[in-house]
Amino acid sequence: MKKIAVMTSGGDAPGMNAAVRAVVRTAIYHNMEVVGIRRGFSGLLNGELQPMTLGSVADVIQRGGTILYTARCEAFKTPEGQQKGYEVLREHGIDGLVVIGGDGSFHGAAVLAERGIATIGIPGTIDNDIPCCDATIGFDTAVNTAIEAIDKIRDTATSHERTYVVEVMGRNAGDIALHVGLAGGAESILIPEAPYRLDDVIQKLERGVARGKKHSIILVAEGAGHGMEIGKYLQEHTGFDVRVTVLGHIQRGGAPTARDRVLASRLGAYAVQLLRDGLSGKMAATQNDALVAVDFETVFTTPRQPDMSLYDLADILSI
Ligand code: ADP
Ligand code: F6P
Repeated sequence: MKKIAVMTSGGDAPGMNAAVRAVVRTAIYHNMEVVGIRRGFSGLLNGELQPMTLGSVADVIQRGGTILYTARCEAFKTPEGQQKGYEVLREHGIDGLVVIGGDGSFHGAAVLAERGIATIGIPGTIDNDIPCCDATIGFDTAVNTAIEAIDKIRDTATSHERTYVVEVMGRNAGDIALHVGLAGGAESILIPEAPYRLDDVIQKLERGVARGKKHSIILVAEGAGHGMEIGKYLQEHTGFDVRVTVLGHIQRGGAPTARDRVLASRLGAYAVQLLRDGLSGKMAATQNDALVAVDFETVFTTPRQPDMSLYDLADILSI
């Protein structure tokens, strides 16, 4: 393996830059050429390739976002787009590719692996919705960003004796809501993986008020419902003073936590090692904190749930 490429794809996540840096520096350390593909599969189809040097990734380990930019690309879901992507890589003499992104990006990577480009995926998404790994790059930062917001909301909720509905990200996954809800002492946590009834949430709120509770926070994962609608329902059915905050894309930005930087550095270096070992069609990940290579097929077919024991614990602690 002499020349490899690296791209970021799908939603950005803090720590992606640290992963790009680790891929580039590990490859150069082993005397390989490295190319950065801008704007994910879209940039691949447009030939947006740039040589990467040690200096290209200087001063980025602490920066959120992705210096390679990211994109979503419908054209790459078609056989014609995939063939074109394969040809662009071959024309540039690229033998190996590292794709940093989520499940969708891994499907794109798997297609290239089937066509003969050695391809490794690195899980990078704030949602933490990828099976067979301890955590995805960006999740820890997003949770810490959201918890800072929750602590601030709690201050004003207490002063005004209000009920707050806070919507956090998580397209199909409740991980952010679950971790932030537990760490932030939320009264209720609504996630797509657990059915809920708003009337039960109301009963719990009312029990709290009867005991003298002055404020409450309801954490909602975006995939479990719209914060605005839930807030309106609670206001109308309780008469409580309800406010709604949608944290939104603030959770996608910011300096990555040390935990995300370490994870990204380890996975970036490991992805290059896997390519050097002649492996392809695998996700570089950690399981029980040890580096592992998991077949894309296993990633695609393994059902995933957040740690539901945290859900039960949060329920007990917010009695
Ligand atoms: P994420 O990687 O964060 O899950 P997306 O689901 O938006 O983000 O996927 C990112 C990109 O990966 C898509 O825009 C597309 O270019 C590519 N992709 C997604 N699914 C497939 C697929 N089934 N086949 C080929 N490419 C895909
Ligand atoms: O997958 C990460 C994520 O932030 C989801 O939590 C959210 O639903 C989605 O991306 C938003 O994507 P967009 O970049 O299109 O706003």
